[in-house]
Amino acid sequence: MSLLIRNGDIVTATTRFTADILCENGVITAIDRDLPVPPGAEVIDATGKVVFPGFIDPHVHIYLPFMGTYAKDDWASGSKAALMGGTTTLIEMCCPSRAEDPLEAIRLWKSKAAGLASCDYTFHAGITKFDDTTAAAMTAIVKEEAISSFKVFLAYKGAFGIDDTELYRTLVTVKELGAVLTAHCENAELVAETQKKLVAEGKTGPEWHEPSRPISVEAEGCHHLMTFAGMTGTEVYVVHTSCRPAVEAIVEARARGVKAGIETVAPYLTLDSSYAEKPEFEGAKWVMSPPIRSKEQQEFLWQCLADGTIDTVATDHAPFDFATQKHMGHPEADKAVDASFEPTGKPANFTLIPNGIPSVEERVKLLYTHGVATGRIDLHAFVRLASTRAAEIFGLYPRKGEVALGSDADLVIWDPAWRGIISAATHSMATDYSAWEGWPVEGRPELVTVRGKVMVRDGTWCGDTGWGTFLERRPKD
Ligand code: URP
Ligand code: ZN
Ligand code: ZN
Ligand code: ZN
Repeated sequence: MSLLIRNGDIVTATTRFTADILCENGVITAIDRDLPVPPGAEVIDATGKVVFPGFIDPHVHIYLPFMGTYAKDDWASGSKAALMGGTTTLIEMCCPSRAEDPLEAIRLWKSKAAGLASCDYTFHAGITKFDDTTAAAMTAIVKEEAISSFKVFLAYKGAFGIDDTELYRTLVTVKELGAVLTAHCENAELVAETQKKLVAEGKTGPEWHEPSRPISVEAEGCHHLMTFAGMTGTEVYVVHTSCRPAVEAIVEARARGVKAGIETVAPYLTLDSSYAEKPEFEGAKWVMSPPIRSKEQQEFLWQCLADGTIDTVATDHAPFDFATQKHMGHPEADKAVDASFEPTGKPANFTLIPNGIPSVEERVKLLYTHGVATGRIDLHAFVRLASTRAAEIFGLYPRKGEVALGSDADLVIWDPAWRGIISAATHSMATDYSAWEGWPVEGRPELVTVRGKVMVRDGTWCGDTGWGTFLERRPKD
């Protein structure tokens, strides 16, 4: 299987040049002008188009038992949606319950992707409890399961959240293993107490989600993690950073020598807190944690993308249907949607709305439309934020995130002239709504390859369910 992409305007995180790209046996084997066509090769003319390395989303949820239900996509729909949006590698959060062994969980999460994933994938291994067996399980996750990053939640008290002793022990073990610890940073106790207070005051609608976990609570979570990471010397990466005080807490720790990556996500860059205020419970569509903030915070995040403070733009894709699942937090809801979860028995309120937004398909188009097309970021920053930095931080570079000899032939031929509209009627995600319904977008992935195989052509799906492979990752030196 060989593919010759002719005359593309190739843009990476650091360079831009016009050339042909030859892809053979899944990798890039030649980059030059006027390459000869090998016998049997398919030739694609990319004149007038931009060629990017395949985009990487380092924070998605596909198999996610959470808040009394399961996220809506499976790996077939989730990875197809990713590819339709130009994302060729996904890193999924493996989120076991406290009762599950993290090593068994990784095996379960892998089994959900195998045979269904169309794009390549790996996982951050969730640690939701730390007991006498956890260090050994984490060692096996790194050495036997070839996963070199972990995930903890400082939020979600009583569910995924860990306490400080568990956090410290996890950080020490991650450091010993030479891995990276990703973390959701919000102070769980403050969230729980504020939720109780607001509900007691009768403040029960989706618009109260943001006030229940304000920016100070997220900043405290970041500062908290930075203090612990500074003590243990562990490399950390803060997921879905939404606001200035959170970023500043991390930047301040960086100045003290803490090695800390910063991620933000597409919803924070494009939406604001007014969406959760929409009447008739519609605001539930925009409930995620940390919450979507003010326009002022959004502008600050864009500055951090431009100046390099923020490393990556992910999605935190966590898809729940509006009509059923989001309605678990509707005042008239009284039971879990999935029979396998216990009904809560409590009157519903915003704290029972499954947190998350379906977004894996729209990230790259939104970043291009609201970042590149508006002049907020240049094309190199776009590639760095949506692809290359994630590959570097999580041990995938230069196999992924680069257009170079020997790199995987994951390529996106981008049509900057295309104009379209986002809609749930046409998206590939399994959810019944889009958080960006009716929004115009500029540019789209016209052709997308994974290891040299064309998965999207003329913006239309032509992929192979199950083509995706698990990416082994070893600790960096
Ligand atoms: O609201 C969110 N973010 N849902 C998914 C779980 C998580 O916290 O990442
Ligand atoms: Zn999170
Ligand atoms: Zn603290
Ligand atoms: Zn998440």
